[in-house]
Amino acid sequence: MQRSCCYLAVGLTVLVAGCGKGPQAEFSLREETTDLIPEAQKVVKTTLKEKFGSPHELIAWQRFPVNYGGVKGSVTEVAAEGKSVVVEWDGDATQVAKDAPLIWVSGARTGEKTSVGSVATYDAAKKELTWTGGSDPAPVAGDKLVIGFGKSLQTGRAVYMKNCMHCHGVSGDGNGPTAQYLNPLPRDYRSGVFKFTSTLGPEKPTRDDLNRVIKYGIPGTYMPSFLWLGDKETESVIEYIRWLAIRGEFESRVDNDLAGDFSQKTIEAAAAKAKANYDAAKGKEKPEKPQSAAAAKSAAKDKFAEYLKSDVPELIDGSAKFIAEAWAHSEEAESLIVPSVARVTDDAASRERGRRLYLSDKGKCYTCHGIQGRGDGAATEDFWKKPGSEEYYTKRGLHDTWGKPLQPRNLTLGQYRGGRRPVDIFRRIYAGIKGTPMPGFGRTALKDEEIWDVVNFVMSLQYESTPTKAKAAEHVVHSK
Ligand code: HEC
Ligand code: HEC
Repeated sequence: MQRSCCYLAVGLTVLVAGCGKGPQAEFSLREETTDLIPEAQKVVKTTLKEKFGSPHELIAWQRFPVNYGGVKGSVTEVAAEGKSVVVEWDGDATQVAKDAPLIWVSGARTGEKTSVGSVATYDAAKKELTWTGGSDPAPVAGDKLVIGFGKSLQTGRAVYMKNCMHCHGVSGDGNGPTAQYLNPLPRDYRSGVFKFTSTLGPEKPTRDDLNRVIKYGIPGTYMPSFLWLGDKETESVIEYIRWLAIRGEFESRVDNDLAGDFSQKTIEAAAAKAKANYDAAKGKEKPEKPQSAAAAKSAAKDKFAEYLKSDVPELIDGSAKFIAEAWAHSEEAESLIVPSVARVTDDAASRERGRRLYLSDKGKCYTCHGIQGRGDGAATEDFWKKPGSEEYYTKRGLHDTWGKPLQPRNLTLGQYRGGRRPVDIFRRIYAGIKGTPMPGFGRTALKDEEIWDVVNFVMSLQYESTPTKAKAAEHVVHSK
């Protein structure tokens, strides 16, 4: 699949023209950002605004693998003393017309002042183009340009605001006006975690994965099917949600780094603890009087002034690089889960092997999905600890990454959220379901042939007659 990041200049940000009327919605900030000391908060806010803009003035930061749209071209001839060029277009050139925005993405004209302009005249028959925005330095053959850059992002935004925003929120935080009534909640794209992917463990979804979810929806949830959207609209909204996810992940990575030293809550908690220790030591030998929260914040402010010069540029660059690579990598062939063997014939013997694996300690499927596959395993009765904490959830049963209660699927209903082809179920078992406690079994607990046996068993559950289900129960009782 084509990736725009390799082609476009790195680091350049381009304003995608304002997006018209409508309520002046804003991107909201993460709680972690608003908890930073004001000086650090300001840097995060300004950087987000500079690099991503607002819902009404989108900015396309070109270092990310997002197809922002527009037609790319390569200069083949230069005429009129560098004031006119002949261009070979890579794709549909109908949008090359007077006043269309133009940017130079390679060659001497990519400098900050010269790179952006618009089409002055275009002769479609001769593919001859002149532009506004100066003629110095002159382009040379081989220079690359894009006309109508950001057009997809703009279309994507319009599709999103109309069809997705009321559930997924303006910022893609999964917190739109309708969201509070739904379970599971609409996806919060900002964590960059997507459930139903065809990719390996930590990988992002591919464009095809997002396309499937948008086209067919997620059965059994409120995520509707958008089969009726045109191809162009679907493609653009895919880019827009990738962009929203990237924006959210960027904010989150920067926050995580800054939170160590510059979180107000942490500073206050540390000061309170120090004071409590000091008070507890009353009467005994007094240690040095601890710093007040106000003094600690003031010290953090001084420290941040240093950090701003020495580390923040690297933090911004490093975060963008990491995220760009992760999204680009998910489109590489090596990220896709491809079964190493063809589907094992779906016969009684394979289903029986699958059933045994399902009930075995290798698979442990029954602990969550229940012995009969009804989604009522013992794990749904237990109290679980919050990840990375000693605290327990107040509700029994499993929870997702976003902290919401989550039921293992009732497999006897034959309703699959991530696609119902056997290979979809294979991938679900192989890599697990990201953002949920369902682990991956591929390359570790189960061999590919074994996963196919489990797929055959799981997919047969919706047709199983009661006696066979009773048999499943019996097996576990005997094996105890
Ligand atoms: C009525 C509410 C609603 C609307 C409208 C809606 N979604 Fe969703 N969407 C959801 C819910 C709920 C989920 C989470 C389902 C789950 O976790 O299984 C979701 C999940 C998703 C996911 C995550 C898939 C994954 O693998 O993790 C994507 C992507 C997505 N929606 C895109 C869109 C797009 C694009 C639109 C608009 C064209 C849209 N949604 C409109 C409710 C909605
Ligand atoms: C720790 C608990 C846990 C274990 C162990 C577990 N699962 Fe799951 N599984 C879940 C949860 C939770 C979901 C629902 C995730 C969601 O849709 O948000 C799920 C969903 C599924 C789905 C539905 C996929 C879809 O597209 O809708 C299948 C199929 C599945 N699991 C099969 C298995 C099999 C087979 C095993 C054993 C090899 C297994 N699971 C082990 C928790 C678990």
